[in-house]
Amino acid sequence: MKAELEEITKGALKRIENAQSPEEIERIKLDLLGRKGRLTQLLRQLKDLPPEIRPEVGRVANQAKAKLEAALKERRNSLTPLHQKREVLDVTLPGKRPWEGSIHPLTITLQRIVEIFYGMGFEVAEGPEVETDYYNFEALNMPPDHPARDMQDTYYLSKDLLLRTHTSPVQIRVMERSQPPIRIVVPGRVYRHEAINARSFTVFYQLEGLYVDEGVTFGQLKGVLTAFINEFFAAELPLRFRPSFFPFTEPSAEVDIRCVICRGKGCSVCKGRGWLEILGAGMVDPAVFQRVGYDPERFSGYAFGLGIDRLAMLKYGIDDIRLFYENDIRFLSQF
Ligand code: PHE
Repeated sequence: MKAELEEITKGALKRIENAQSPEEIERIKLDLLGRKGRLTQLLRQLKDLPPEIRPEVGRVANQAKAKLEAALKERRNSLTPLHQKREVLDVTLPGKRPWEGSIHPLTITLQRIVEIFYGMGFEVAEGPEVETDYYNFEALNMPPDHPARDMQDTYYLSKDLLLRTHTSPVQIRVMERSQPPIRIVVPGRVYRHEAINARSFTVFYQLEGLYVDEGVTFGQLKGVLTAFINEFFAAELPLRFRPSFFPFTEPSAEVDIRCVICRGKGCSVCKGRGWLEILGAGMVDPAVFQRVGYDPERFSGYAFGLGIDRLAMLKYGIDDIRLFYENDIRFLSQF
């Protein structure tokens, strides 16, 4: 039976090779694999073989069948003229609408914020997301064992390299390479090893602000931030400065805005407090000026860092920060 198989296969392969049209291929296929085809009939006899050799012959037979089917297919393909292979095009069918992209809500928010500060005379600066320990901490007045480092759970890449935990290192980079007056905003991605929930994610966006010149005051900081908030929310929202601590500013404050949802009455977004924290700020610490070679007797400055995700959530009424990073098209296409 094996010999017969071989003979069939050989003969068939030769016929396939010599076939000159798809119709001829069809005929060969029928002769071999049709209901009365030679191979079909042979395969039918398998069951009458003694059980010791049945599996082996069966295997060879199946291989031969697969080989012939492949050869038929290939030859048919090479014989089919190109124009018959192409799909038929029905020009009367409605077209498929291509996906229209939209701008990510964080990008929209970031651009809007930058635009407002640009209008007040701030330039945009940027810095690396992979930072050295020096810029992220040390130059900002946080030596290796400083407890304030614990406030920002850090992803270290090596002993000295990390993913920046805030945009403040760019303050140092810019001051090192330029002289006052400096008036910059720094948008960018920052990373913290935090538990993920509706309010915090391991990646988020900040916008750093820095203004250094002679005679810069806390009052100016307050004025700029108030102007920014009123413009961004297109509403008169009072600001509240709470005394706080950052190693690189003195004095320092955390800044709240009147809740944009309930306007101070108390709601679930502000947890009944009527206020929402949106940024940290303060007057640049003289020790930071000394690091970058500025005379702290001559220059003063303010700095602030605000959470872009937070502002986007408030502006668009989004209650879960994770939505920004999941890239669900149903969410993104609403913007
Ligand atoms: N970098 C601080 C933070 O991420 C915020 C900040 C920026 C505070 C600038 C003061 C001045 O928490």
